[in-house]
Amino acid sequence: MKDLKGRVAVVTGGASGIGLGMARSFAAEGMKVVIADIEAGPRDEAVAALGADGAEAIGVECDVSNRASVEAARDAALAAFGKVHVVCNNAGVAGGTPAPIWGCPAEDWDWVLGVNLMGVVYGIQAFVPLLIEQGEGGHVVNTASMAGLLEGAGTYGVSKQAVVALSESLWRDLKTSGTNVGASVLCPAWVRTRIMESERNRPESPRPTDEIPPEAQVMRDMVRGFIERGLDPDDVGRQVVDAIRNEHFYILTHPKWKNTIRNRMENILEGRDPVTAAPEDGDFPVR
Ligand SMILES: NC(=O)c1ccc[n+]([C@@H]2O[C@H](COP(=O)([O-])OP(=O)(O)OC[C@H]3O[C@@H](n4cnc5c(N)ncnc54)[C@H](O)[C@@H]3O)[C@@H](O)[C@H]2O)c1
Repeated sequence: MKDLKGRVAVVTGGASGIGLGMARSFAAEGMKVVIADIEAGPRDEAVAALGADGAEAIGVECDVSNRASVEAARDAALAAFGKVHVVCNNAGVAGGTPAPIWGCPAEDWDWVLGVNLMGVVYGIQAFVPLLIEQGEGGHVVNTASMAGLLEGAGTYGVSKQAVVALSESLWRDLKTSGTNVGASVLCPAWVRTRIMESERNRPESPRPTDEIPPEAQVMRDMVRGFIERGLDPDDVGRQVVDAIRNEHFYILTHPKWKNTIRNRMENILEGRDPVTAAPEDGDFPVR
């Protein structure tokens, strides 16, 4: 989709981090923006800031793990702006109990897969038929992660690998249906956001930090450091705009991680164990 000016973008998880970076980049292109997010305070602040910069923006309360809530966000976007052209299924969470994969509590699986995977499924099902029916062109961007392309990363990695597979299916089905709706999957490594505070949006009360074993705390602190010096979310937003304009499917925001993807593929092809190679910038937690 080359011409973005005046078009309407819906961004789930748009109140913070990568979603807000996308929203700002869309607004800079003259798009109207709908911030669909579960967190009221930051959602209101994001809408006010976009408005202060001259953008047309609204906020909509939305829990992406609830199908009806995603459909209601679509209806609110239509009520406000009449059309939707770009949908970013971006809301996501990381966290839960640090445990081997056989010990992850059921509620962690429900939360992480409910938001990260089913949130994207609900977004696709609520918006894609509308984008096709409108006939004005459109684009869907699903936020996965570098974890969606590498060897296992617990419940989070499972959810993100599934988002990559889901997005590839979406791309193929859109192509073979002959629509003028495109699709991309966003796979960033570290980005400077509030992802390490994801428990703030967990439906149950947050897990006390003293339940975290010391070894897991060391790992968590290391990841927090990588995130703190990660990419600026606005850079990610600009790369997403570029991918929509030029119809790029895989959005790899961190070129220095390409060797880790290559290593993963070679592990598979050459029958090696699933050991992740460190990226060229070295920002990888070693167990
Ligand atoms: N930050 C990184 O390094 C990184 C790397 C790869 C992928 N990602 C992915 O980027 C996406 C955005 O995360 P971020 O890093 O900007 O974190 P963030 O915590 O700053 O932003 C996430 C946003 O999603 C919202 N959200 C959480 N649960 C929700 C729900 N159930 N319904 C609706 N909104 C909900 C939050 O309120 C928040 O505004 C996620 O899918 C995440 O997995 C992040």
